[in-house]
Amino acid sequence: MFELVEEAPAAAMDPEEKDRLQSLMFDCSYGLYVVTAREDEFVNGMVCNTFMQVTDSPLRASLCLNKGGKTCQMIKATKACCVNILGQDNHDLVTHFGGFSGHVVNKFETLDYVPAPVNGCPELDNTLATVALEIEKEIDLGTHTMFIGRIVGGTKHSDGTPMTYAYYRATRKK
Ligand SMILES: Cc1cc2nc3c(=O)[nH]c(=O)nc-3n(C[C@H](O)[C@H](O)[C@H](O)COP(=O)(O)O)c2cc1C
Repeated sequence: MFELVEEAPAAAMDPEEKDRLQSLMFDCSYGLYVVTAREDEFVNGMVCNTFMQVTDSPLRASLCLNKGGKTCQMIKATKACCVNILGQDNHDLVTHFGGFSGHVVNKFETLDYVPAPVNGCPELDNTLATVALEIEKEIDLGTHTMFIGRIVGGTKHSDGTPMTYAYYRATRKK
């Protein structure tokens, strides 16, 4: 009655080889972003380095978020988010949104934001720009969910140089 489907076992890798390959990945360059979401009246956000444009026509982008995070769960529920593109002077936002979870704190209790016209998710106007996404697809990656969404709106806030992960690591207060 049922067809047996055999799943490929997770590839076992020698820990030293995994460390070596991981160190090669440190040469990849990433930007830094604050991804925000709204579910009913609760708004939240988190730092993310895994956001990128993936198609041009239509305009689509992907982001990869840990399933345990509050923002990830809110995006799953609402299929919407905003991505705020950080500039080189946004270190304070990385600390604010990357160090605590919305499961335990309200990160917007003392922070002003503008609701994005298309989906109500927070736009942070002290960043370079905000884009609004409508999620089309989710890919289950075990610990993480990859979201793919259409860019359906956005606002330019200021000119400046985007923050990369490497720049953040080199200039953050220790
Ligand atoms: C520099 C930096 C980059 C990060 N990138 C990611 C990422 O790409 N995906 C992810 O799931 N978490 C990432 N995080 C961790 C989340 O921002 C952090 O776990 C956050 O507290 C989750 O908040 P939430 O539970 O309110 O969603 C990053 C954190 C920092 C400081």
